[in-house]
Amino acid sequence: MTMAPLTHLGELTVGEFLADYWQQKPVCIRKGIAFQEALIAVDELAGLALEPEVESRLIENRGDLKDWQVIHGPLTEDDFNKERDFPWTLLVQGVDCFVPEVHDFLAKFRFLPSWRVDDLMISYATKGAGVGAHYDRYDVFLIQGEGQRQWQIGQTCNENSALMAHDHLSLLADFELSEEFILNPGDMLYIPPLLAHKGVAMSDVCVTYSVGFRSPSHGDVLTTFADERSMDISADLRIKDHGFAANSGEISAADVEGLMQLMRDQITPENVAQWFGKHSTEAKHPGLDMAEEAMDLAELDSIINDAYGVLRVSEGVRLAYTWQGDGGLTLFVQGDALPCPPDATAFVEAIANQWLIAVDELDPLVKKDAAKAMLLILHNQGYLYFADE
Ligand code: SIN
Ligand code: CO
Repeated sequence: MTMAPLTHLGELTVGEFLADYWQQKPVCIRKGIAFQEALIAVDELAGLALEPEVESRLIENRGDLKDWQVIHGPLTEDDFNKERDFPWTLLVQGVDCFVPEVHDFLAKFRFLPSWRVDDLMISYATKGAGVGAHYDRYDVFLIQGEGQRQWQIGQTCNENSALMAHDHLSLLADFELSEEFILNPGDMLYIPPLLAHKGVAMSDVCVTYSVGFRSPSHGDVLTTFADERSMDISADLRIKDHGFAANSGEISAADVEGLMQLMRDQITPENVAQWFGKHSTEAKHPGLDMAEEAMDLAELDSIINDAYGVLRVSEGVRLAYTWQGDGGLTLFVQGDALPCPPDATAFVEAIANQWLIAVDELDPLVKKDAAKAMLLILHNQGYLYFADE
């Protein structure tokens, strides 16, 4: 069992894909990714959409685009039992947080830093259904899971692109068709940010996996950094006078420079890494109860002795680390920062990079007490768990 990142997308090496297409232009990759069977049964997907912690939508394509209805989740049995003589789509966000097979599939996209990989959305559509022409602000791989879908690619958009009047859907008013593809299972389409796209299901059952990436907006970077820093700064610290302007109505250049210096003083590599580590690993579902049964050192030792099974990162848990000057590192997990001494780094690196360690390979990584202690902390918080495979 491995969650190793992909080395190829179809015939393309990952290196070729990153150099020629990533964040530049769309590409349709036939047989881009291999999977044996559907990642999730349609019934199970519908079941997830009933759960309150799962984000889902059902879009009904009845009548004109402006009349399309959106039912926001959690959905009910009635939403599924309703007879519809028009096309419809069920979209379920973040399925990787709930289904181990989907989590493992998403892990294959860590040929990019894992903090960039956001979630895997799955849509189920009936023939003729689609969510309309739109653009997303992030990179996305649209992978055909079951059936067939036609994808059309349009123009590059921006925040001024005209939208149709609709309360719940951001549909583009104009769509300038440039390319068109029909995807079969395993085919994938990469769409860079801001590029218009429109999909229509061509088969009675059409399932699409969409792998979405995170890229915080510049505004988000500035506000969340400032929020994080402000928590550490005493309210007693106040701005100082830097020499007054000749006129009392004027703000002096010296005042502006003083304010800029105050801000610059906060922008250190340590502060930025600490904020970004916490921010980029914030829990997708903060309310999710992940508590595992607490394990003690004796139980851990006996698992290691048995040398059976694997240690896994729990579904939906985000991990990242940065190195410290002393040879230790800081592990960021679900928005928290955990300092790790040098003795624990080999284990922490392995779990944060691989997301899965065979138990029979664990022993050398956790020989030192500090590493075992770290494993127990992470396990007992529910961030890691032992499984058969
Ligand atoms: C879909 O799966 O129907 C929509 C995915 C997307 O366009 O981002
Ligand atoms: Co989209």
